[in-house]
Amino acid sequence: MVLVTNKDLMVPARKNGYAVGAFNVQNLESMSAIAEAATEEKSPVIMQVTPSVIKYAGLAYISNLVKTAAELAPVPIALHLDHGGDFETAVKCIDAGFSSVMIDGSFLSFDENVDVTKRVVSVAHPKGVSVEAELGKLAGVEERTVAEKDAILTDPEAVVEFVKKTGVDTLAVAIGTSHGAYKFKSEAKLDLERLKTISKKIGIPLVLHGASSVPQGIVEKANKYGAELSGAKGIPETELTKAISLGIAKINIDTDLRLAFTATVREALTNSPKNFDPRKILGPAKDAMKEVAKGKMRLFGSSGKA
Ligand code: G3H
Ligand code: 13P
Ligand code: ZN
Repeated sequence: MVLVTNKDLMVPARKNGYAVGAFNVQNLESMSAIAEAATEEKSPVIMQVTPSVIKYAGLAYISNLVKTAAELAPVPIALHLDHGGDFETAVKCIDAGFSSVMIDGSFLSFDENVDVTKRVVSVAHPKGVSVEAELGKLAGVEERTVAEKDAILTDPEAVVEFVKKTGVDTLAVAIGTSHGAYKFKSEAKLDLERLKTISKKIGIPLVLHGASSVPQGIVEKANKYGAELSGAKGIPETELTKAISLGIAKINIDTDLRLAFTATVREALTNSPKNFDPRKILGPAKDAMKEVAKGKMRLFGSSGKA
């Protein structure tokens, strides 16, 4: 199959009340974990890469890994730039054959965010590439780490003007999630009323970043083999299914994949001290990642939709 766009996958998802998982990939192992999960679940899937992954792996290597997955897999796959930080990065990815890009202007003023998003849309749309933007600002660990006190929930009054002025295809909203493994100190709850209001105002598919659930079984396994992750806490799965019923059509998952992968690397190294074949360490880690992704596809309702 050829790459499809996020819009191709997300419009039917919003219409039919499910969400497509957008999984961050960094290398061969994570790419094939997600491709195998989608194939086994018969699910459409979005593979996304951040600017820091592009720096780590190289644009040509990482984009061609995902393009190869799309060619070989019997399910539709989108290649998406996650948290594109500026116009130039978005254009580089469009030129490299990405089918979708995010321009993350959440750290800019409203007018500057409109301006840069509009410029990206004007380059992307003629090439058949879909565009995601963000209104509001999530807390947590990303390239530009945002402190909790600087997080801003999406203003429902601003979304209609933003979408109209930019022509963006999909919109990421801030409703109380955050990036990384430490999302809540007290009650784990999303502002679903805010999401409902936003959803009533705009019909385009919505995106939820920072949506990892930080499964406690995986955290315990990591800690058992030497990690120090006490206090890690994520989004309850019930909040995610409610968010899907209110218009969320793409759910971003990175942390849960990283946790599963590294917990299993720790386990393999501890249990087989005589092994020095990387495939016997990375293979089980890839399989653990795949199982997490398959569980998300079932939870989000995208299983069987390809
Ligand atoms: O927001 C996305 C990530 O979880 C942070 O990814 O470490 O690849 O920049 P990164
Ligand atoms: P998590 O850190 O919750 O996995 O969020 C990932 C994300 O939003 C990537 O854009
Ligand atoms: Zn994100």
